[in-house]
Amino acid sequence: MASPASGAGAAPFSDSSVAVCVRVRPMNDRERAAGGVEVVSVTGPQTIAMADDPSTKQEDTRDFAFDQVFPLVTGQKEVYDRSAEHVVDRVLDGFNACVFAYGQTGSGKTYSMMGPESGLTPDNEGIIPRMCRDIFGRLGDMAAKKCVGTVEATYIEIYNESIRDLWDRDNDGLPDTIGAVAAKSTSAKPVAATLSSKPSAKSVDTPKPAPAKAASAGTGPRVRQSPSGEIMVDGVSRAVVHNFEGLAKLLAEGTTRRTVAKTKMNAVSSRSHSILTLYITISDEDDSDGNESRRAKLHLVDLAGSERADSTGATGATLKEGAEINQSLSALGNVINALTTVPASGAKPFIPYRDSTLTRVLQDSIGGNAFTMMLCCVSPALVNYSEILASLRFAARAKAIKTKVTRNVDPALAKLNAMVAENKALRELTAKLVGVCTTKGLAAEVAKLPEIPATV
Ligand SMILES: Nc1ncnc2c1ncn2[C@@H]1O[C@H](COP(=O)(O)OP(=O)(O)OP(=O)(O)O)[C@@H](O)[C@H]1O
Ligand SMILES: [Mg+2]
Repeated sequence: MASPASGAGAAPFSDSSVAVCVRVRPMNDRERAAGGVEVVSVTGPQTIAMADDPSTKQEDTRDFAFDQVFPLVTGQKEVYDRSAEHVVDRVLDGFNACVFAYGQTGSGKTYSMMGPESGLTPDNEGIIPRMCRDIFGRLGDMAAKKCVGTVEATYIEIYNESIRDLWDRDNDGLPDTIGAVAAKSTSAKPVAATLSSKPSAKSVDTPKPAPAKAASAGTGPRVRQSPSGEIMVDGVSRAVVHNFEGLAKLLAEGTTRRTVAKTKMNAVSSRSHSILTLYITISDEDDSDGNESRRAKLHLVDLAGSERADSTGATGATLKEGAEINQSLSALGNVINALTTVPASGAKPFIPYRDSTLTRVLQDSIGGNAFTMMLCCVSPALVNYSEILASLRFAARAKAIKTKVTRNVDPALAKLNAMVAENKALRELTAKLVGVCTTKGLAAEVAKLPEIPATV
């Protein structure tokens, strides 16, 4: 019943800092074998309707409206262009943002965020690689306008409520992509990525091939809130990334470490929530054009999906994972309910962020200073009726969240940039003067002059 819709409707974020899009995936073999009945119908570029549930004979067709709705024929590029692409401008303008995929197990979250499990190509890649490619492309364009963009990144998974560093290479026997890339640094090619254990590591001139240890012995990564309210994850590896190719290598390496298992619902089921975070700093050497130096944090999240043990056939560790996944998704639901419930007059709303690691890590994205985009993924099939309805209701609820987003302008960074530029100009002038003096036979006098240090 899902059918293509023409036109794209209003752009996401035109009326709110929270955008919710829905994607219907094609039916799979298991669903076809179960009768192949479709129960969702994409009725327009922004609307979707659910048919009656024949098993309960309920007769109330449910209509939903979202920022964008993608029928099952929609390709990866169109999904990106009409959804997450709208986040890129905001991020490069200095606003925090978060893009996350939500939905039941097997509904197409990982496919939409990363791409198919068979391997990524520029045609089939999902939102995360497309967005990273776009960001680096746009930063490259900015360089011509005397804007210097730096990108640092972390990649974690939340597995059974614990945070794991997906770039921690100790003891897992996987190839060392980062070390291999760094080892190439003696060649003329720019180094794609390096790792640093310091959370505030800046661009490095001499990359260290050896990986940094993420967390000291006995203590895993942990969540902390800065005095300004920003949520940080301490004790994870942080990569300084110089281009898309470097980040793509790191992503592929980290994704190999992500916990995945085969269930009856999905042969490649994610058993953890993954979060790629980009910390982007744009320093504008010339603030006179009205563009200030700015920074932004971007979370790109692929959630694990809700599941019923009777459908997945999970046992043992996979069953326990499923219970933990459902619990953290239910905590996310409670946070969204609390954020959209108007408290009794005078009461300060209580938002239960601390009920799960997921809601704690995403605290300042879901209900804080960030543009948030949720991509709700659904199956079209009758066998998943209650899960599809629950997902669409969850998405409708999320659309009601109101947040106040402010730009992260950095006057200190702007001042520092001006000083760095002045220092560079002075050093160039001095070098010219030294050259002239030396040719005039004044080399001994020049040698007595103090040197201008290369830093400010
Ligand atoms: N739009 C789509 N087009 C073609 N195949 C798709 C699409 N969406 C998902 N699939 C396929 O369906 C299967 C399940 O998708 P995926 O792994 O993305 O689900 P998921 O929502 O991430 O599930 P889980 O919560 O278990 O991780 C995969 O084999 C995937 O390639
Ligand atoms: Mg998945």
